[in-house]
Amino acid sequence: MSKSGTNGTSVAVLTADSAFEQALRTTFGASGQIDLRVTSGSISTVDEFRVDGATVVIIDLDAGRGEEMQALERMMLRSGGGPPVVVVTQGFDAGVARSLLQMRVADFLVKPVQPLELVRTCARVARSNVTETAEAQIYTFIPAVGGAGVTTLAIQTALLLLSSGQRVRPTTCLVDLDFQHGACADYLDLEPRLDLKEIEPRPERLDRQLLEIMLSHHASGLEVIAAPNRPAEMRTFDPDMVTRLLDLVSSHFDYVVIDMPRTWFSWTDSVLLGSNRLFIVSEMTVPSLKHAKGLVGAIRERLGDGPKPQVIVNRFEQRMFDAGLKKSDLEQALGPDLAGTVPNNYRLVREAIDRGVPLEEVKPGNNISLQLKRLMLPQAAAKAPAADAQGLMKRLSLSLAK
Ligand SMILES: Nc1ncnc2c1ncn2[C@@H]1O[C@H](COP(=O)(O)OP(=O)(O)OP(=O)(O)O)[C@@H](O)[C@H]1O
Ligand SMILES: [Mg+2]
Repeated sequence: MSKSGTNGTSVAVLTADSAFEQALRTTFGASGQIDLRVTSGSISTVDEFRVDGATVVIIDLDAGRGEEMQALERMMLRSGGGPPVVVVTQGFDAGVARSLLQMRVADFLVKPVQPLELVRTCARVARSNVTETAEAQIYTFIPAVGGAGVTTLAIQTALLLLSSGQRVRPTTCLVDLDFQHGACADYLDLEPRLDLKEIEPRPERLDRQLLEIMLSHHASGLEVIAAPNRPAEMRTFDPDMVTRLLDLVSSHFDYVVIDMPRTWFSWTDSVLLGSNRLFIVSEMTVPSLKHAKGLVGAIRERLGDGPKPQVIVNRFEQRMFDAGLKKSDLEQALGPDLAGTVPNNYRLVREAIDRGVPLEEVKPGNNISLQLKRLMLPQAAAKAPAADAQGLMKRLSLSLAK
């Protein structure tokens, strides 16, 4: 998940060909707005070639040399999910083309390369990579007690984010990490397709293609990652697998919403640390609020300056003449850690779950969706667009115009 450096656009180049290097400097350096980082050397012998932060990577190599192709393959594996790579090569044949495709090189050009062609290729590659380099906004829901409504709120938030785009619909993925008692797929009437047994022995095999096989598609356009339930199996998973899964998901979607289990696993910290917004879902009882408050403290202690946990009190009812809890009690108990409340509307939620449809479809403008919008969308709306590729194209056209 890379973001560009200071001025937003950077092209990292590896080449041992000084004439090619000179041509690049003339082409890209003209405007002074593109940060061109050239490393001299060959891919099979260079000590350090850093691609982090680059918008596009250009690698000049001799595809006829086995060691250079092998070095490229290793680099591609290492930088999986990193910036797009354009290969410029001397020798070329169908076998080379095939290998480059398999390595998921974004594009390749054969020398001699026209500067304009190279610029166009870089701009196109950067543009098609926009959704992949933009970091996802990750919304994570954690339960204070069982049955508080984590799954319900995670699903509805995901659907809300999915429909929050102004012109284009943001891609959204709901990830059910409650491997023991996950209910996301059931609530949405989907077949869970995440096969943990297949990934676990070799998490590094998990790539975009495998991920696509393991997504369940909801009619709304929401993508869901959920594993079939194993209620009788109390086991934990390799933290690397969970981290890799989330890294991959967050490099392919605009929004990721996570349904967390109650148990604290070895991978929990890293999931929470990687989240942009963290919600603890509580029910409206004194014990649950106590748990929620305790969790806020525990998470804050563990994550330090990381994302700030906030409590949502679900199934809220304002009872004017009752001795039960009131909004002011919640405010007093939780102070600034209270994100807000979500109203109790059992009939609505039950019908949505039974039919596997969004609340909005059961009753447009219902009180739960309205309140969730208030809680979730202000920050979402402020999400910066993925500016990298647009910036690159603007700057490239500037430098070409000169
Ligand atoms: N705002 C609400 N109003 C009315 N009913 C709700 C609301 N939110 C959730 N429910 C109901 O509460 C029950 C528990 O909800 P849900 O499954 O979302 O909770 P959970 O925290 O994921 O539970 P678990 O601990 O089993 O994972 C469900 O029957 C759901 O219909
Ligand atoms: Mg649940």
